[in-house]
Amino acid sequence: MSRTHFGAYVVLWIFSLVECKVPEVRVTCIFSEDCILPCTFTPNNGDLNIKWYQQDVIILSLQPAGQRLSNGNTWLFSDDVSNGNASLLVKQVDTRSKGRYKCVVNNVTQTYVVATVEAPIRMISIKTDPSGLIRCSTEDVYPAPVVQWSTEPRSAPAALRPLTRMAPAGKGLFTVESFLKQQNNSLHQIYVCNITSKYGTQTWTASLKLQEMSSSEGQDLIIPCRTPKNLQSFSLVWTFTSANKTTDVLEYDSRTHKSSRSWDHAKLEEDNALKGDVSLNLQKPVGSEHSGIYTCAFSGAEARHLIQTSVNITSFRQGKDFLKYNLWMLGIVAGLITLLAITLVVKKYRAKSKRKHENAEENAEMQSMNSAKTLEEPQAGSKLMREPSPS
Ligand SMILES: *[C@@H]1O[C@H](CO)[C@@H](O)[C@H](O)[C@H]1NC(C)=O
Ligand SMILES: *[C@@H]1O[C@H](CO)[C@@H](O)[C@H](O)[C@H]1NC(C)=O
Ligand SMILES: *[C@@H]1O[C@H](CO)[C@@H](O)[C@H](O)[C@H]1NC(C)=O
Ligand SMILES: *[C@@H]1O[C@H](CO)[C@@H](O)[C@H](O)[C@H]1NC(C)=O
Ligand SMILES: *[C@@H]1O[C@H](CO)[C@@H](O)[C@H](O)[C@H]1NC(C)=O
Repeated sequence: MSRTHFGAYVVLWIFSLVECKVPEVRVTCIFSEDCILPCTFTPNNGDLNIKWYQQDVIILSLQPAGQRLSNGNTWLFSDDVSNGNASLLVKQVDTRSKGRYKCVVNNVTQTYVVATVEAPIRMISIKTDPSGLIRCSTEDVYPAPVVQWSTEPRSAPAALRPLTRMAPAGKGLFTVESFLKQQNNSLHQIYVCNITSKYGTQTWTASLKLQEMSSSEGQDLIIPCRTPKNLQSFSLVWTFTSANKTTDVLEYDSRTHKSSRSWDHAKLEEDNALKGDVSLNLQKPVGSEHSGIYTCAFSGAEARHLIQTSVNITSFRQGKDFLKYNLWMLGIVAGLITLLAITLVVKKYRAKSKRKHENAEENAEMQSMNSAKTLEEPQAGSKLMREPSPS
């Protein structure tokens, strides 16, 4: 780690004309580490009076009577004060340590120091969450960093629309989470998430590629994975996830060229690994046990890359069951058809016999009507016969 890179040293001297050439120094202090704010003066043999201020509040002073600490052990002088080194040692920097400091020696302002505080990015994580979103995150960062997403091949940045949350965690640091929806042609894309520190001193990159494959039980299987192009030294872990449980399968380190495995029937060709091919060889997988998600995860300098393969292994028993199931379905369908046919025939027969019955009834009615007529007629005749004699 290039921790000294962030360290407590002079970054820039700016000569302020207004303050009559009192120099201003910028220092970046690392969260929870010690930090030195520089101040030097030309020593003389008289009395020495040194004062340090943070935003115009006096925090530490050294007077002829001796050293006075105004705030426990938060601020200390260097051991070299008599030789002209009035630098301030800030112990265990926290977010309140930032600000503008002033170093005054014998009533003359020597230096202004502008201290910024940074809790550097130390990890990045990327994964799919149960709802299918892709989640990129980091923890304990200060100040709040910038998250950027992209895809390969490129899609319009406006189409991505990620949702980013920066929540204050303990001690004023930030926990960062960013969610991206999977794009439609998800299987042909790599999702890339960059987290850049506020002052641009660091960029961590994470990527996720999703792929799918299927195979049959008992057949050796190669799950492909290649080292990303610009990843020099890395550690690699293959894991297996099924029913929300993740187990380690195999580990590989590019510096030692050695792999160690947790599964007996899984291996990686170390010769191929040197050429960037870290595919997993799975010997005689069993469908029910070995179907699931295989993740090939690289961790390198400021980078994490995941290739997630959803593997479906069809088992023999599944095949047999499938046939059985089909026969059952066939039987049921044939049964239904027969039943339907019988119902139709019966219905038709019933309709026919009903019609016959109705015809018979109709005939009977007609007959009874006819007979009624014949019964009425003689009466009418008698009536007629009687009528012509009204006189
Ligand atoms: C002043 O003292 C600090 C702390 O002891 C030390 O790190 C720094 O190098 C010294 N500066 C000079 C100019 O000697
Ligand atoms: C600094 O200033 C104070 C009053 O403002 C004075 O009493 C003191 O003698 C001065 N010290 C030096 C070293 O000039
Ligand atoms: C994904 O598909 C839906 C409907 O098919 C469409 O409305 C949407 O714009 C597509 N999104 C992308 C990013 O292509
Ligand atoms: C993410 O970071 C990488 C490496 O620093 C850089 O090449 C890439 O352009 C960055 N992508 C975005 C979207 O900022
Ligand atoms: C996995 O966990 C999620 C929520 O954490 C749950 O909704 C899902 O049912 C679980 N799946 C299995 C197979 O246990």
